[in-house]
Amino acid sequence: MRATVIALTLLLALPASLTSRADNLTLLYSGNLDGELEPCGCTLDTDFGGIQRRATFVDQQREQNPQLVLISSGGLFSPEMGSDQIKHRFILTGLAQLNYDAVGLQWTDLTHGPEFLKQVALPFSAANWIGSEFPRSRLIERNGHKIRYLQWLDPATSPYASMPALSPITPDSATLAAELQKAEAAGELTMVATTLDLEQARAQLPLNQIDLLIIGSAYELFSEPVALGNGPLVLQPGSRGQRMGKLTLDIADGRITGWNHLITELPDSVPSAARLDAWYQAYNDALREDYEQRVAQRQQLDSGDSPYLGADQCQSCHSDQFRLWQTTDHARAFEDLEIVGKAFDSHCVGCHVVGFNQPGGYLDITLTDHLAGVQCENCHGGGREHAESAGQVATLNKEAAMETLCMQCHVKEHSPQFNVETYWPRIAHPLSR
Ligand code: HEC
Ligand code: HEC
Ligand code: HEC
Ligand code: HEC
Repeated sequence: MRATVIALTLLLALPASLTSRADNLTLLYSGNLDGELEPCGCTLDTDFGGIQRRATFVDQQREQNPQLVLISSGGLFSPEMGSDQIKHRFILTGLAQLNYDAVGLQWTDLTHGPEFLKQVALPFSAANWIGSEFPRSRLIERNGHKIRYLQWLDPATSPYASMPALSPITPDSATLAAELQKAEAAGELTMVATTLDLEQARAQLPLNQIDLLIIGSAYELFSEPVALGNGPLVLQPGSRGQRMGKLTLDIADGRITGWNHLITELPDSVPSAARLDAWYQAYNDALREDYEQRVAQRQQLDSGDSPYLGADQCQSCHSDQFRLWQTTDHARAFEDLEIVGKAFDSHCVGCHVVGFNQPGGYLDITLTDHLAGVQCENCHGGGREHAESAGQVATLNKEAAMETLCMQCHVKEHSPQFNVETYWPRIAHPLSR
């Protein structure tokens, strides 16, 4: 996190107060959620955020200050989970219970089309949207102040870039400038959010007409606000919904004269909001039902001749390696998923069992309990031929680089501290280095 306290410009000379007064306004904001309905909790460094903790924090803040403004710059869904309607539906229904004042529209939010977003009353908008599905802006009124929220959908990253005739947006920032002019004439503060970075925003957007600019989320990095001379106060939110920014603005004569900014992390010490318990239960029930349907389908397709044997079958010839493996957390990886109630969540299971979504691989714990956990064959590949030849046929991954094997699972999002030099010695087999 960049901890720079941005320089003492004249603006900061006024004391910023944290209480709700007529001359100030508090905004809670966040950038991309990136599909993180809940944190995976794979390590302490990844255990931040989630909609239930966010609800707790927002509720607490609203209790102190009912005039609070709640903003999300969008990016609710994850591009990697393109087809995942269950999770995306629950992200919408969960966030809808937080009473947002404005939610920006990003391209990833349109994964299932505009209609999908309209199943809940979340206040989406996009300033350059042409159709009637979303309004161009949202007007927020609090403490006698008016804020005009506008989202700029970046034409350069549009999925319609190669077919402009079908595009639901206009690439012309004159539409934004016109909206900003109207807002200014009406005495409103203007807030623009976009996925552009600051340099791109400088080049493409009319910054001198904007009071507050939220630029694109930086990966897990929330920055302090930066005041541009004769331009907006620039906010840079982090990603994955891990933290929230709280910005209290001093306002005089419709202008921002000072501010106070605080970044709040949402670790597991922030309890889940009880009022979302039923929603979370419904989410897990929907996942489980979907999972069970897939198991039934895959079971039908299975030929029965699995390339995977399970660690017990390697034990007879490799008892030393087996005993050592049993002492590692790999052997317990599935139990740990069960403990957190996620053993049927297909977003989680893949890295905690053998051969998930592979022919003959793990299906579910009653049908394939011998393939639960991270086992020999996650690294060495399906071992049937090798075992049946009593070692004559080499294992499938014999020539693979060690790190490549680990990186199937020890990716940045789930194992940020991973380093093969420090991790391998913790699970190294006795006969190797
Ligand atoms: C891309 C692979 C991957 C996915 C997907 C994944 N995990 Fe993990 N998980 C890991 C790895 C790797 C570790 C070990 C991290 C480390 O120690 O550096 C881990 C560790 C864990 C642990 C043990 C934590 C501890 O304190 O010992 C739990 C519990 C867990 N994951 C739950 C989940 C849940 C819940 C999900 C789904 C939301 C999930 N995992 C999805 C790879 C994954
Ligand atoms: C997390 C990945 C991983 C798991 C799990 C794993 N191995 Fe390995 N294993 C490796 C890697 C990587 C090497 C190569 C080490 C080297 O080149 O120094 C290796 C080496 C070996 C070797 C040859 C070296 C030696 O120790 O004689 C055998 C045999 C072996 N593993 C068997 C097993 C068996 C049996 C299991 C399960 C009980 C298992 N491994 C589980 C990654 C794994
Ligand atoms: C019937 C005995 C037998 C069984 C069962 C067996 N292996 Fe082996 N394995 C061997 C022998 C023998 C060698 C040594 C081969 C050589 O060095 O030429 C070997 C070597 C290995 C090696 C190092 C060389 C290579 O090909 O990568 C790995 C890794 C390995 N076995 C993994 C496994 C795994 C995983 C299983 C279970 C799926 C398993 N073995 C089951 C006999 C067996
Ligand atoms: C199939 C996915 C997968 C692969 C491949 C994998 N890991 Fe893991 N690893 C996990 C999961 C999941 C955990 C957490 C298990 C738990 O705590 O429940 C973990 C935990 C660990 C831990 C902490 C456990 C302990 O006992 O100290 C180490 C170290 C580790 N992995 C090293 C490696 C190395 C090195 C490789 C590559 C040679 C590797 N892993 C390959 C999924 C994987």
